Amino acid sequence: MSDSTPVPELYSFNQPIVGMIWAQTVQGIIGADGGMPWHLPEDMAHFKRVTSGHPVVMGRRTWESFPQRFRPLPQRTNIVVTRQQNWAGTPDAAGAVVHSDLAQALVEAQRSPGCEEVWVLGGGEVFRQAMGDCNVAVITVINTDVPGDTQAPTLGPAWTFRGATPSEGWHTSKNGTEYRFTLWAKGSGELRAAESAMGS
Ligand SMILES: NC(=O)c1ccc[n+]([C@@H]2O[C@H](COP(=O)([O-])OP(=O)(O)OC[C@H]3O[C@@H](n4cnc5c(N)ncnc54)[C@H](OP(=O)(O)O)[C@@H]3O)[C@@H](O)[C@H]2O)c1
Repeated sequence: MSDSTPVPELYSFNQPIVGMIWAQTVQGIIGADGGMPWHLPEDMAHFKRVTSGHPVVMGRRTWESFPQRFRPLPQRTNIVVTRQQNWAGTPDAAGAVVHSDLAQALVEAQRSPGCEEVWVLGGGEVFRQAMGDCNVAVITVINTDVPGDTQAPTLGPAWTFRGATPSEGWHTSKNGTEYRFTLWAKGSGELRAAESAMGS
């Protein structure tokens, strides 16, 4: 894909991927006070479309940021990392596959249903550690400058921009918030994303 290629809202990659997916402000904020400092239903729908059917890996704080009634995220193996030895036995862990080691969590993901795509959901702490094992990043940029306490990871020079939807400017949410979907991948080579046959 070139820089001007629109990113489809559903991705079908020509090779197995381990992707990161997040939404951030233009300044790179992804979280505040254990949650996200915006409400963007279109991004929640996009997140569901992209990740459904695939294993997801996240930090314990991101898991706990989901309202209890929404977890585990349906149609996805939900793998949660924590360093707390007893957390797996607590009610908060219900529905999660728990690991104390991020590398082991990624191995577990790679043998779970739908593992041709594995999605790392964050948060900031987990993104920074997992980035070396990832080859795709799907980032929703929200045209707002709200403050927060959790920052998106910095994609280093190994990453290249592969396209955006819309290719210029912003979508406008029904609540007035402006946003766009962007796709990044490691290197400049073979990885391609095309509109999925699954439909939206
Ligand atoms: N905007 C977005 O797209 C987006 C996406 C995800 C999250 N968020 C936001 O980001 C914030 C949460 O992010 P965060 O950086 O604070 O936390 P996080 O990355 O979600 O979770 C951190 C926790 O994961 C566990 N952990 C991390 N690395 C580990 C490792 N190597 N081995 C075992 N366990 C490990 C630890 O749990 P224990 O403390 O239990 O040991 C650690 O405290 C929230 O505000 C959330 O809403 C936003």
